[in-house]
Amino acid sequence: MLLSIPSVLSKQAVADMRAAIDAAGWVDGNVTSGKQSALAKRNLQLPEDSPVARKAGDQILDALERTPLFVAAALPLKVFPPLFNRYGEGNSFGMHVDNALRVRRDNGFRIRTDLSATLFLSEPDEYDGGELIIEDNYGAHAVKLNAGDMVLYPASSLHRVEPITRGARTSSFFWIQSMIREDAKRTLLFDMDMSIQSLAAELGHGHAQVIALTGAYHNLLRMWIDL
Ligand code: NI
Repeated sequence: MLLSIPSVLSKQAVADMRAAIDAAGWVDGNVTSGKQSALAKRNLQLPEDSPVARKAGDQILDALERTPLFVAAALPLKVFPPLFNRYGEGNSFGMHVDNALRVRRDNGFRIRTDLSATLFLSEPDEYDGGELIIEDNYGAHAVKLNAGDMVLYPASSLHRVEPITRGARTSSFFWIQSMIREDAKRTLLFDMDMSIQSLAAELGHGHAQVIALTGAYHNLLRMWIDL
């Protein structure tokens, strides 16, 4: 499933975060890459242990907890502390798949990457190019969202960032280990959850069929959950 999640951060939160991270010390983006992706990657990143990056990352983690659409779609078990990158003119990231396992160097925190996320921190009119291209069974999808919006996609997807031809694109990126490992099962649960919520809005949460379907949702989750 490829899903856009609007307004994870408010415009004010984005402006405050940008003021903090723009002034921080950026380094070559290859510090976090696997060997294959290092060949294809041209961008800047904030170091994982940068206090500014950590604070901004914590703000994003808090925002995710307050975003029901993210929780319903990702069914998160663990979220990797968000990282930050910036693509200036001529920068890009060629086609690659993210590493299956991510480990924090400083504290050994590690996750299996089921989902990848990019939270846009630049408005689309700040730069030309820079689309995130994600390939799935239905072809290639170009993603360029408003500042504060986030895209969630299976970490198993081939993806790339198109070259920037004007301006700069700043974003946060991170990975999620889901309670539901398989994308197809997670997608089914998400579709079911969304349908139950619309039915509940129409019929009321106490409606017998809404209660029955909610029970079926939780029993499926119980059957598949992986903690
Ligand atoms: Ni990637």
